[in-house]
Order: sequence, then C-alpha cells, then structure tokens
Amino acid sequence: MTPVSQSAYSQQPWWADAVFYQIYPRSYADGNGDGTGDLIGICERLDHLVELGVDAIWISPFYRSPMADGGYDVADPCDVDPIFGTLADFDALLADAHERGLKVTIDIVPNHFSDQHVWFRQALAAAPGSPERARFIFREGRGANGDQPPNNWPSMFGGPAWTRVPDGQWYLHLFAAEQPDLDWTNPEVPAEFARILRFWLDRGVDGFRVDVAHGMAKEPGLPDMDLSVITPRDEGAHMPSAADIRFDRDAVHEYHRGFRKVLDSYPGDRMAVGEAWVPSSERMARYAAPDELNLTFNFELVVAPWSATEFRSAIDRSLHAMAAVGAPCTWVLANHDVDRTATRYGGGARGLARARAAALVQLSLPGAAYLYNGDELGLENVELPDDALQDPTWERTGHQVRGRDGERVPLPWTGTRPPYGFSTGPTSWLPMPEGWAASTVEAEAADPASTLQLYRTTLRLRHTLADLQGTALEWLDSPDGCLAYRRGGLSVWLNAGVAAVPMPACELVHASAPVGADLEPDVAVWLRS
Ligand code: GLC
Repeated sequence: MTPVSQSAYSQQPWWADAVFYQIYPRSYADGNGDGTGDLIGICERLDHLVELGVDAIWISPFYRSPMADGGYDVADPCDVDPIFGTLADFDALLADAHERGLKVTIDIVPNHFSDQHVWFRQALAAAPGSPERARFIFREGRGANGDQPPNNWPSMFGGPAWTRVPDGQWYLHLFAAEQPDLDWTNPEVPAEFARILRFWLDRGVDGFRVDVAHGMAKEPGLPDMDLSVITPRDEGAHMPSAADIRFDRDAVHEYHRGFRKVLDSYPGDRMAVGEAWVPSSERMARYAAPDELNLTFNFELVVAPWSATEFRSAIDRSLHAMAAVGAPCTWVLANHDVDRTATRYGGGARGLARARAAALVQLSLPGAAYLYNGDELGLENVELPDDALQDPTWERTGHQVRGRDGERVPLPWTGTRPPYGFSTGPTSWLPMPEGWAASTVEAEAADPASTLQLYRTTLRLRHTLADLQGTALEWLDSPDGCLAYRRGGLSVWLNAGVAAVPMPACELVHASAPVGADLEPDVAVWLRS
C-alpha cells in the first residue's frame, strides 16, 4: 500500500499538523498551594510549553464537578470548579496562552452529566415518564419486581451500567453511577450542547476534545450484549470489539454533524477532535468525515505492541482510512486513560529508550499529534498505595482493578523531593514518588541528553524541516525488526527489533539516543539522503 498521499486537504488549517499538549489540570501545576493543580498553575507554567514548542493545549475538564471521575462528571459545564479557580482565571489563561501563540482547546463531555447536574436532580425529583426524566435514560427493571437491571450492560468502570432509584426505575450510566447518560434523541440535549459550545467559543477557545465521541447514540431497544467481547481495563488499552453494542452506533454521526455546524458558524478555524475507541480504522475515520469532527484520535499506536510490523500496519491503516475522508491523522502515544508510554514499553531504561524512539516516529508522521503532560519528561506510571487511589474503577471493581491514577501523578518541576515544585504546599492530590529529582523540568532542562531536550529538539525540527510539512509518506525497505519511511528528503528509521543493523549511509539529522556505526535496538533516527 505505498506510497501514501493525503493531498485531499491542501489548504491546511492550523490544526491539521498541530502538536497539541494535553494538560490534566489536577496534575500539571498547583498555583494556590492546596495540592491540586489549577488554572493559575497552568498560567504560571505556560512558558514550559512555549519552550517545548507545542502549538496548542488541550485542557481536560476543569468544570464544576463533584470529581467522581476526575472532572469527567460535569455538574455545570459552563463554570469553573472552585478547586481549579474561576471563570476569570480561565479568561486570563486563554489571553496569556494566545499572547504566546498557543491555541487553547478544552473538553466537552456530551455522553453524560454528573448526577449533581441540575437536570439530573430535577429528574430524580420528577416522576417516571416526566420530561425531566426524558433527558436521561430511565427504564423499568426486569424480573417480577423490576429489581433486575433493564439489560446486562456493564459499566466501563466495573459493575452494572444501571442504578436503581427509590421509586424503582433504573438509569443508565456507561461509566460511574455518578455519570448518568443523556438521551440524545431528546432534542433538548443537542440544543443544550450547542449552547455549551457557544458559551466557550464566545469566550474565545479554539476548539474542543469531544469525550466519548463514540457514545451518545444508544442501540434502539437497549438489547442485551454479548459479554464475552469485553476485555478488563487492567489488561491494557485495546480496541473494542465491533460486537460491543454500547458504543459506535451509526446514529452518533448526526450529533457530530450538529457540533460541526456550531463550530463552522465561528470565524478562525475552530476545531474539534473526537475520542472514539472503535474497532477499525474505517470506523475511526467516519468521525472525521468532511461534515463531522475535524480530527479524531488515532489510538492505533497506543494499542500496538513494540514491533516494526505492528507499527507499520497501524500507520498504514490509519493513513489510508483518513485519506479516504480527506482528514489528517491524529497520532497519539498516551493520555490520562492509558499507561504512560515508557511504562507500556516495559519501563526502566528500555521502556524510556523505546518511548523516546516512538516520539521520533510519532512526530515525523503526517498529521496532528497529541502529547500527554509528563511524557516530555519520560515519566513512568507510579505504583500508588491502595489508600491513595481515586479512580472510580478501584471501588467499582471491589478493589480488583487499580484504574488510571498511576499515569495521573502530578508533574515534577523543581527540587529534589516531593512535591518537586508542583505545589507550594507539602503534599499533592496523588502522592509523588521519591526518585524523580533527575526528572524535573529544571533538571532535564539542564541536561542535554534528557528526554525534555529530545522533545524540544524534535519539535523545533518538526517546525523547521520543510520535508515534514507535507502529507506524503513513502515506505522504504528495511531489515527485519526495523521500520523506515521517507518524508521529502528525510528518512525516518526505527529499530524495534533485537539486533543492531548497519546505519544507512546518510547524514544524521536527529536521533533518539547517541548513535555510532549501527542503528541499535530501541533507537530511531532522522536521516537526510
Ligand atoms: C473518557 C475520558 C475518561 C473518562 C471517560 C468518561 O474516556 O478520557 O477519563 O473517565 O471518558 O467520561
């Protein structure tokens, strides 16, 4: 399947090849000393992102929330939670970021609200069959007394996807019980989300990340599903089965067309990227069809094992599927829901070497890219004590599945002891480990061989090398275990095998590790032929 060209989009808007940096706001920087990251903290640490060389930020939810799922349980999508600051803090952050040339994108969470949202409180206070209940998915239970859930769907966080309310009805929640699913067939729901989008677009945000973009539309009749297709979260990130009827229903695309209409009614190339975990590249590409979302995360590299063949086929599949809809690929190695890149590749020196090499691949592919805060420092997941865990998965699985806290530990900025300048207070919302003194932004900035310096150089080259600006990619022949492709006059080589191979006779432009006569395993290079 070579060569690949994505020339279908020629007049590129800013987001088509932007590098986005995901800020998990509880963990980026704490501006008020309470141990939890906040908007002022982000403002104070914007220069890190300018020096890193990213184009845009995506800030995970900072809206009013009881924090049953780290803010993805939204109680008021048009206000800032006091733990993160105020709307004025957000406006200041937006202005500061724009002044530095950074675009600002934020989450919207359309599949569900918090159970503390006024709509859900009204629904609970109202009777079965009322218009208030019709904004959510309330049903009668099964069994003689209706004491069995309406179907057999499990929640993504463990346990049933249904919770019973005192009058006997059940409501659907694909995630935690504190996250009741909205009924998108009720016109009030899309209208409310158009209002939410406009609220933030009017303030000046450049775009959105659409949470659970493959949710929202529910299989008509809510039939039972085949439970054998579900893989537990602790077995690592994976693509869902096409038989998982809780997600990726065709009707969802109408809702994305609605989002797009709102975005396009604003000047300035406002955008949205979808979070859609779907079974195939073709299903993924549908979310970025010309009249739907602008981008959709490509999770293929997140789930691919460390293997040149797997990487190549993931890249190939994605490029072709996205070219067919005329949208750029959106390359992702990590986010707040999956193990950190260095951890997924085995941890330790080897995991880090692979994560660094993977970054040189990710950032040399055509399209947009998302970085997850802390990956630029080469951080690994942290083993947390049981009593520190906050992910709802831990409780909902009866302490069987630990969940995602390990990749959410706050960032180390300065100093040699926790909380490493993350907070002026003594502690952080998740404990930070001993042993991160060499991984702080301060320490890595002073070390030419650090992962931070590698990212800075990679992003500078990405912006300046004309070879990487286009959309074409041509695969090159390479020895077993290796991956090689050409972009303009630049070739990118990754050795994901176990044996060293001779370095191609070309000028070395960039490398993920010091190189000699051979291309060693777990190293990537950019070469000029
Ligand atoms: C998305 C978010 C995840 C959250 C879930 C429910 O997958 O990335 O963190 O738990 O949606 O909103």
